Amino acid sequence: DEADGANCPDSLIVVSNRQPYRHEYDDEPDSERTEIAGERSADDRPMSVDEPTGGLTAGLDPVVQHAQGTWIAWGDGDADFAVTDDQNCVAVPPKAESYTLRRIDLSEEAVDSYYYGFSNQVLWPMCHGFTDRIAYQPNQFDWYRRVNERFASAVGEHARADSTVWVQDYHFGLAPRLIRDAVPDTVTVAQFWHIPWPTPQTFRACPAGGELLEGLLGNDLLAFHVTDYVENFLDCVGRYLPSAVVDRNRNIIHYDGETTSVVATPMGIDAESYDRDARSAGAKRRSSLLEAYDVSPENVVGLGVDRLDYTKGIPARLAALERFFETNPEWRGEFTFVQKATPSRTQIPAYQRYGDRVRNAVDRINRRFETDSWRPIVYTEDYLESTELCALYRRADVMVVSPLVDGMNLVAQEYIAASVDGDGALLLSDRVGANERLGSHALSIDPTDVDEFADRINEALSMSSQDRQRRMDVLRQRVFENDLGSWMNEQFDHMRRLDRKAALDSRK
Ligand code: G6P
Repeated sequence: DEADGANCPDSLIVVSNRQPYRHEYDDEPDSERTEIAGERSADDRPMSVDEPTGGLTAGLDPVVQHAQGTWIAWGDGDADFAVTDDQNCVAVPPKAESYTLRRIDLSEEAVDSYYYGFSNQVLWPMCHGFTDRIAYQPNQFDWYRRVNERFASAVGEHARADSTVWVQDYHFGLAPRLIRDAVPDTVTVAQFWHIPWPTPQTFRACPAGGELLEGLLGNDLLAFHVTDYVENFLDCVGRYLPSAVVDRNRNIIHYDGETTSVVATPMGIDAESYDRDARSAGAKRRSSLLEAYDVSPENVVGLGVDRLDYTKGIPARLAALERFFETNPEWRGEFTFVQKATPSRTQIPAYQRYGDRVRNAVDRINRRFETDSWRPIVYTEDYLESTELCALYRRADVMVVSPLVDGMNLVAQEYIAASVDGDGALLLSDRVGANERLGSHALSIDPTDVDEFADRINEALSMSSQDRQRRMDVLRQRVFENDLGSWMNEQFDHMRRLDRKAALDSRK
């Protein structure tokens, strides 16, 4: 299944918080992204464009190119508005222009309240079940609403009668209903919610929860990764929106003249590209990260790759590693664990504290066990090129994916796709969406049970190579069969099947 967009709607409008291309002045380069073109701004300062390097944004870009559609996103680059027209639009990709990127200009105050505030200190912790981490201020919700309104009215300016609008994620809980009001009746509105949806008991802690549910029921289609989140969403609507009619057999909700289908469609990755990068000449060389840290080629390698986010369970993982080295001294000097951590949302105090906690734990464990020629944990926050990341995936004998909660987790899938030698073992938390599809052939762990976790690490390291191969064969089959392209086709099939026009006609 190629993610080339052959199956996508004719007039596609994508709405997401993160944009696919970002213009930056060269005097302040951003090492996190790949520069693809040297350009100059109107005031003749040198500029470059960063292109998407992974995940959904990279996967969607060719689809929107194929559809010659429109993508509406927050313009967060310092030169973004030096290149847009008076409607804040720019044609992308640079030098191969095929679609319109409409940038939304957000003030610092808007970003603080909408992105750092309501999105990431209310919805993010709430949906992941960390209600004690919710830090809510009422004005944040006003900004969240205002930003959702601005995106919705931008959609209104670009939508045609036959458009399909596809909204991404929790930054836009109110936008769907606002979009519905701003576009012709014949337009299809769909959304993918990339993070978990909590139980009614947890959702009770959500400020403005009712308004949020009403906003989401402006969608014709609302998709989650797994059926648990679908069930939770239906439960929340049943409980907190009494006038909604919930059809439990068909997973359909009728509310305020609109009908919303709620579906579970687990997301995949562009497996081919990880496979290709893992086989590339760059990745076949030894990982330069491991070389830089003097990790012996003889060492058995474990790996963790995560954003520095309190949902990822890194401290518990480190505690399990410490227990492992304590109880299995024969592995000291023989086994090295590599943790790649990507700083994220660092303006939020909880994220700063989390980073400190992780770094301190790594230092302490290293001081406890290290020798002159070996350190138990190699920790890096450096940006890694895709080939370097894939070299690490390929080299890792054991991959540890142990979030406390995770909507899906794509890293587990990346590891599998890059395991081209077929002999790696995956330790997978039983609390991530990916567990539904991969759990049966991974080593399943409760990420908080330190003793069991340590035993599992030992088990993974002691597993026979036939057993690893047998499991990895199945895992690879699942990841390649259910890749990003097939996930997207599934979304577009659902959207098409809604047949909004027929529904409207039948109402007349
Ligand atoms: C999660 C969210 C995405 C988000 C990503 C990175 O995966 O579901 O929407 O883009 O985290 O977080 P950031 O806040 O940097 O966009």
